[in-house]
Amino acid sequence: MICEIGEKSDLKSQHLKIHGQTKLKGTVRISGAKNSALVLLAASLLSDEKITIENIPDLTDVEKMKNILKTLGVKLVNEENKLIIDSTDLHNSELPYELVNGLRASFFCMGSLLARLGEASLSLPGGCKIGKRPIDEHIKGLKALGATISSKDGFILAKIKNNEKRLIGTKISLECPSVGATETLIMAATLAKGQTIIENAAREPEIQDLCQMLNKMGAKIFGAGQSKIIIDGVYRLKGCFHKVIPDRIEAGTFLIASAATLSSITISPVIPQHLEAVLDKLRETGSKIAIKGNQISISTKLIKPTNIETAPFPGFPTDLQAPFTALMSIAEGESRICENIFENRMNHVALLNKMGASIRIEKNIAHISGVKNLKSESLIGLDLRSTAAIIIAALTADNLSIVGGLEHLDRGYESFECKLNNLGANITREYNERIFVDPKNASRDLPSNKKNYQAA
Ligand code: EPZ
Repeated sequence: MICEIGEKSDLKSQHLKIHGQTKLKGTVRISGAKNSALVLLAASLLSDEKITIENIPDLTDVEKMKNILKTLGVKLVNEENKLIIDSTDLHNSELPYELVNGLRASFFCMGSLLARLGEASLSLPGGCKIGKRPIDEHIKGLKALGATISSKDGFILAKIKNNEKRLIGTKISLECPSVGATETLIMAATLAKGQTIIENAAREPEIQDLCQMLNKMGAKIFGAGQSKIIIDGVYRLKGCFHKVIPDRIEAGTFLIASAATLSSITISPVIPQHLEAVLDKLRETGSKIAIKGNQISISTKLIKPTNIETAPFPGFPTDLQAPFTALMSIAEGESRICENIFENRMNHVALLNKMGASIRIEKNIAHISGVKNLKSESLIGLDLRSTAAIIIAALTADNLSIVGGLEHLDRGYESFECKLNNLGANITREYNERIFVDPKNASRDLPSNKKNYQAA
């Protein structure tokens, strides 16, 4: 059973009509991880043999990455829920601005293109709404591996100048455990001459998933998931079959939505070890959590306040900070949420306050005084996770809310409102209508297209 997707009109002119006072129940299927699928697609450039990847989520960020691969000369064949990637004829190593703009993950191709072709030139990924998103760690590490790096007209040019066209293994110590830099350098090092050691490496599950696929391709990577990773370079990498891990951030978002609406739901498939810090915090706020294999059930009768410090894995993930702030905005007391990873990841706070939340920001700390309930509003989300946060808030609000910013939401959540409707929510996606009516006067009848939604 799948969610029928409406016409793919311009996402900027779409919005969700969300009926509040929602209770959720049932089981929701968690899709493949966005932040794994993106780097696995980039890693497929390292082999001239076919790579088959299963469980790739249907997201606009993934579509952008597929377009990048096609531009480089890669053949992509969709077969049911599998993508067959054939980069035998990889011939282009240049990625222009219009392709990489807005997709930070495009920069992951730098490491794989450089290792495979001996050169790469990518338009600078630039910052985004949550921060400057520098790439200095990526560049420093590639230089340490022997690449010659220069920049010209907004492009980063990387070249291997030695005769063998091979990077040289070395020891790299990252200033900060950057997920992207760790992934870029692992990919580059797989085909290097000799051994590379990355210290202070990021430990996220998406990195472990990347290393699992690379080792299936014949790479020799040890210590994935630890802060010290060893890569023994090989001459070439072969094809393989790989399945993307479940998306821990989507999973956490549904757990938080269930807690915020005082509901009971089950999420599956999921890898519980990927969510330990989040589960601990949900328990602290009063939710009952039951784990059975690759299923997690949550039931919530009250919402107690707690404090959060976002941190690299296995700490509390920055990507769930905004959704959790929405939960704490209706907790019974004072909470404090500190964002330690990105310098500007509080875009949801002003929107939640417009709904009646009481949140004060001091530098990168949100001081939250829980309120009894939020009031429905017409709002436009400003980035991926803040849009998810205001949708959660709207599910708890007193009436009908209108939420725009779906161009952000659809980057990272597959059929989000469809999955929520299959848990009992009452959400309609409106296409090409610029209505931002006063939600209080909107009709309360069920959305006409609810019958079209079947859980994936
Ligand atoms: C990845 O971004 C994820 N994106 C992000 O998910 C996630 O929030 C982030 O890791 C942290 O977990 C993808 O995997 C596509 P970082 P990335 O490099 O790799 C600083 C989402 O919502 N830094 O770990 O860009 C940087 O400024 C997205 O799904 C440097 O200083 O994150 C930031 O403060 C958002 N120099 C911190 O490290 C560098 O060269 C973490 O960044 C690189 C990073």
